[in-house]
Amino acid sequence: MQKLTAALVVVVGLVVFPRATLARDSEVELACATIDVPALGEPLPAKVDACIATILRKMPLAQKVGQLTKYTWGALTGPAVGLTGGYEELIARGEVGSIFNVADATLVEKLQRIARDHSPLGIPLLFGYDSVHGYRTTYPVPLALAGSFDVGLAQQAARIGALESAYAGIDWTYAPMVDISRDARWGRIVESFGEDPLLASRMSAASVRGFRSHIMATAKHFVAYGAAESGRDYATVDMSPERLYEAYFPPFRAAVDAGVDSIMVAFNDVNGIPMTCNKPMLRDILRGVWGFKGVIVSDYGAIGELMAHRVARDRVQAGKIALEASVDVDMQSAVYAETLAELVLRGEIPEALIDESVRRVLRAKLSMDGWNRDYTPRTPPPLDRSFAREAGRKSIVLLKNEGVLPIDKHRVKRIALIGPLADSRVDMLGPWHGQGRPEDVVTVFKALTERVTRDEVTLTYAPGIDERPGADEEPMNAIERAVNDARAADLVIAVVGETEQSSGEAASKTWLGLPKAQEQLLRAVFTTGTPLVTVLVNGRPLALPWLDDGAAAIVESWHLGIEHGHAVVDVLFGDVAPTAKLAATVPRAVGQEPLYYSMRPSGRPLRGADSGILLADYPERYFSRYIDEKNAPLYPFGYGLTYTRFELGDLRLASSTLTPADTLEVHVRITNVGERDGIEVVQLYVRDDVATTTRPGKELKDFARVDVPKRQSRDVVLRVPVRELAILDANGVPLVEPGTFTLWVGNSSAGGLEAQFEVTP
Ligand code: BGC
Repeated sequence: MQKLTAALVVVVGLVVFPRATLARDSEVELACATIDVPALGEPLPAKVDACIATILRKMPLAQKVGQLTKYTWGALTGPAVGLTGGYEELIARGEVGSIFNVADATLVEKLQRIARDHSPLGIPLLFGYDSVHGYRTTYPVPLALAGSFDVGLAQQAARIGALESAYAGIDWTYAPMVDISRDARWGRIVESFGEDPLLASRMSAASVRGFRSHIMATAKHFVAYGAAESGRDYATVDMSPERLYEAYFPPFRAAVDAGVDSIMVAFNDVNGIPMTCNKPMLRDILRGVWGFKGVIVSDYGAIGELMAHRVARDRVQAGKIALEASVDVDMQSAVYAETLAELVLRGEIPEALIDESVRRVLRAKLSMDGWNRDYTPRTPPPLDRSFAREAGRKSIVLLKNEGVLPIDKHRVKRIALIGPLADSRVDMLGPWHGQGRPEDVVTVFKALTERVTRDEVTLTYAPGIDERPGADEEPMNAIERAVNDARAADLVIAVVGETEQSSGEAASKTWLGLPKAQEQLLRAVFTTGTPLVTVLVNGRPLALPWLDDGAAAIVESWHLGIEHGHAVVDVLFGDVAPTAKLAATVPRAVGQEPLYYSMRPSGRPLRGADSGILLADYPERYFSRYIDEKNAPLYPFGYGLTYTRFELGDLRLASSTLTPADTLEVHVRITNVGERDGIEVVQLYVRDDVATTTRPGKELKDFARVDVPKRQSRDVVLRVPVRELAILDANGVPLVEPGTFTLWVGNSSAGGLEAQFEVTP
């Protein structure tokens, strides 16, 4: 349907704007189309300023406002506000600066032609798109990818998403999403790199570099969107400056330092000011302190939402405060289009303020070589299946294994595959799958079928429950059939979890369990006594202590994209070992949320091993604890098993007395004591022992993915510049306080080898 609409629009475009009327402004062409534009990321030549000056001199106010106006075309990625296409006339008048959601190179070409050949000054458009976990080649969702702790992988993923987007005529992606996410109720945790500022910052910078190999990148959503109260999407955030600086700013700062082209502003308010008009945060910090010179874009319709926030009485005021805050581009609300010219005429904002934003948009267009690019559609590259499979393998976290994995094909001759997600293609793609198509997906069922044929294992498949509309089997019959299969098998593999629409935007949850029917199915399978391997498909941490009790193995596979099934089966059969770690803490119960490893201790901490104790077992009440659940998570941040065992030893510090100018250097020896080659993510955590303000219990400060062949050792060096241990002083200035620090080196955020060092003035 979307395609059909696009095709009609193209025809209309050709009729209304025949080639014969081609009229480009010769002065602008001379100033702008003759620039030799370097690769994205290289500094633009000085001639760019002359081009921009020429445009600004000739451009009427309405067209300037047009440059700051962005509309969706074809798809809705938010509530229906405004039109969803048919902007040819506006483009021809020069009153649209960018379009998003078009995923059709032919339509892009037609619209670019209208802009270039028929608009008064011939300014090209920018085309935006969310390539959050791939464009057509859908790869693991960011929460999964982050668990690889492999920044090169994130960079490559972004590069592939960007390349495919570029072939579709897109020049601006709204990714990476770098919101720190510490609350599994919030559905957008799936789009994020998880809870930790250091991991998210490294992933953020790598993704920005990857995207920028072909198109403009956007770090979103600035800022603290992931801290929405109650985990409810779009809700209020109230947060201390310390926490903003320590947790929520760093991934954005990393993106800016990596040269990110644009920043998207979050929907939420922070400390009483909606981000869309948050002048202190945007103009003072992002632009002023961090020196960000790129384009700030609103989120979908967000300028129009300033009235709902009740900080603007009408659209005119909304437009004024958003522009004053330095939001350059209005995505979809059309507030700028409606109000900015009037505000200038009434003398309420200077035209120079509009020029400032137009300048930034034009620079972006020049950086994408908009004047000289050939917009002719090209044949897109083929799906990058081998990358999707590799990324999938590297994103799988083994949460539990009682010796059943990898599957021993000499012992396991009959496998019962169950679960409604075992053969559901669309659900493997994940919630923001761009142009990913279900027909491209290899499910676990498909991959397992290929595999058992090769290995002469008998496979049965019974979904056990089908919750989708149109399912015709009675629930109890479906369960019974699956249970019978389970009883007759040597091993059960259950693929259960969430559908792709159960996480993502506007998908907050108050319940972090499995859908009831799936729980019922698994509990019924427990009674058969056949070992159960559970493969979880989900976009957020799920609280499943009962599953941890009953399953022989749990494989957290998230949404891995088009090669989901192959990646999972490769791991199940041990072709590769699982190597990923959790990028977000997995709770035992929803009531623990927000739950993250770096919590501050409180004055009555229930610490370490004690945090895994229930009140009934240890009735000392007056601690910071629950009366009905343990404090400890089900699985901590940074945790994940593999198929061999590692031991850490010989912890040594190059120096245990350092100044703020030094770099802490930690040496550790890792030994693979198992019988197969393996990879471990060695993690370094640090705690400031005594400080003027309360500090996190520990913070990740460095990590390394280390390859260790069986029965061999490797020496690993981890480093932390001491200045990264700074806290904010009373004036908000980062300061390293002298004193002792404790560090832990381990394979998760829990435990590890311990040492101390001292920082002197
Ligand atoms: C989302 C953004 C996205 C935009 C455009 C919004 O609803 O919050 O993340 O980039 O839509 O699709």
